[in-house]
Amino acid sequence: MRPAPEDPALSPLSARASPPLKGRVRVPGDKSISHRALIFAALAVGETRISGLLEGEDVMRTANAVRALGAGVERVGEGRWRVHGVGIAGFAAPRTPLDLGNSGTGCRLLLGAVAGAPIAATFDGDASLRQRPMRRVLDPLERMGAQVLSVGEGGRLPLTLRGALDPIPIVYEPPVASAQLKSAVLLAGLAAPGETVVIEPAATRDHTERMLRHFGAEVRVEPMGAHGRRITLKGQPELVPQPIAVPADPSSAAFPLVAALIVPGSELVLEAVMMNPLRTGLVATLLDMGAQIELLEPRSEGGEEVAELRVRASALRGVEVPPQRAPSMIDEYPVLAVAAAFGEGTTRMRGLAELRVKESDRLAATAAGLIANGVEVLIEGDDLIVHGKGLVPGGGAIATHMDHRIAMAFLVMGLAARKPVAVDDTAFIATSFPDFLGLMRRLGAEFG
Ligand code: S3P
Repeated sequence: MRPAPEDPALSPLSARASPPLKGRVRVPGDKSISHRALIFAALAVGETRISGLLEGEDVMRTANAVRALGAGVERVGEGRWRVHGVGIAGFAAPRTPLDLGNSGTGCRLLLGAVAGAPIAATFDGDASLRQRPMRRVLDPLERMGAQVLSVGEGGRLPLTLRGALDPIPIVYEPPVASAQLKSAVLLAGLAAPGETVVIEPAATRDHTERMLRHFGAEVRVEPMGAHGRRITLKGQPELVPQPIAVPADPSSAAFPLVAALIVPGSELVLEAVMMNPLRTGLVATLLDMGAQIELLEPRSEGGEEVAELRVRASALRGVEVPPQRAPSMIDEYPVLAVAAAFGEGTTRMRGLAELRVKESDRLAATAAGLIANGVEVLIEGDDLIVHGKGLVPGGGAIATHMDHRIAMAFLVMGLAARKPVAVDDTAFIATSFPDFLGLMRRLGAEFG
C-alpha cells in the first residue's frame, strides 16, 4: 500500500519561482540503453566494458538481477562497469526472487532473456511495478515455449517464469507500440533457432536492435505500413563483447530543458544529449510551439546521434501533438503538459492510452497536478488537452504516486509558477536521475 501523505518516510519538497537558470550541464546516461547494456553484456561471452552507465536505482536493480543470474558485474569507476557475460541461454537459476523495484524496463526485458534460458526465476517489484501489466509480455513468451508457473491476479507481479528448453521462433505483432514488449520477444528470440520476427504497429525506440547489431547479431529492419516496422532477428548468434558508451538521456534532459524555456531569462546548454530520431518527439513538439532550442555540433557517439542543445527562455504557443508522435516521446508528456500550461493557447496531446500503465497512471496524475495548480485541463478519451494562459498560478500539492517523472515535472512547474508547487515525495527521482535536485540547484533552481 502507498504510504499516507503525512508519512515521515516520504521526502516532500517544494519548488518556487527562481532566478534565470544559467549554465552548461550533462544529464546522466540514458536509462533504456543502460538496462540493455547490462543485459546484452550478460548474454555475450566474455568481458564488456561500459562507460557512462546511469547509476540510478532502476539500472542498479537490473545490475543486481543479471548478477543473480550468473553474470559477473563490477563497478570500476564513476559510470564505468565491467560485465562478464555467460552467453545466450547461459543464465543460472537465481536463488532468490529478482526484485526489479520500480523498473518496468528491467523487468520486461529480463523476462524475455529468462524465457530463452532453461531456468526458472521469480520476478517481483515495488507497489508501483506490481500494478503494471505483464500479460502483454507473457503471451508471446509462452508462444515461444516459456511457462508461467505462477502469476499474480490480472497478470501482475510477483510471477515465476520457466524458460524454454527449446525456444520456438515466432512472428509477433504486438497489440501496442511498446519497445519493452518488442525487446522481450527479441531477447527470447536470441536463444531460438531460425528467425524471430516482430511487426510493430508504430516504430518504437530501437536501442535493442542497434545493440544486437553492435554485438554481432544479424537484424533486418524493414518499414511496414505508414508508421510501423518489421524486425527480423536471426537466432542463436554468438554475441561478442563490445565497448559501450552510454549517451546522455533525452528523457532526463527534458526537465532542465523545459525549466529553461519557462523560467524567464534562462539560457542553458545541455551537453551530448542523445538525438536518436525515435526519442526526439519532445524537441520536435517544443520547436513547433516556438521554443528557442538550437542543436549544436550534431555528431555520432557510440552508435547514437548526439548534439548539444542550447535552450533560451521562450514564449510558447499551443499546438496539436499527433498520436503517431507518442512512441518517440512517451515519457515526456508530463513535462510537455507543464510547458503547455505556460504557453498561450490550447495544446492537444492525442493518443496517450499507454500513459495509463506507466510507473503511475500518468494521464490522471498529470491532469490532477495541473488542476491543483490552477491550470485548465481536460481528458477526452485518450487525449490530454491543456489550455495555456501564459502563466500558472501554482500553490498546488502534487501526489507523485511513486512516479519519478511526475515528481520532476511538477518541481519544474514550481520554478516558474506564481506560488510554490509542493510534491509529496522526491524519493523516486533516484530511479532515473539521482542528482536531479543538485543539478537543477547548480543552474539556479530554488527548492525548499
Ligand atoms: C522503454 C520503453 C517505454 C518507456 C520506458 C523505457 C524502453 O516503455 O516508457 O520508460 O527502454 O524500452 P514501453 O515500451 O512500455 O512503451
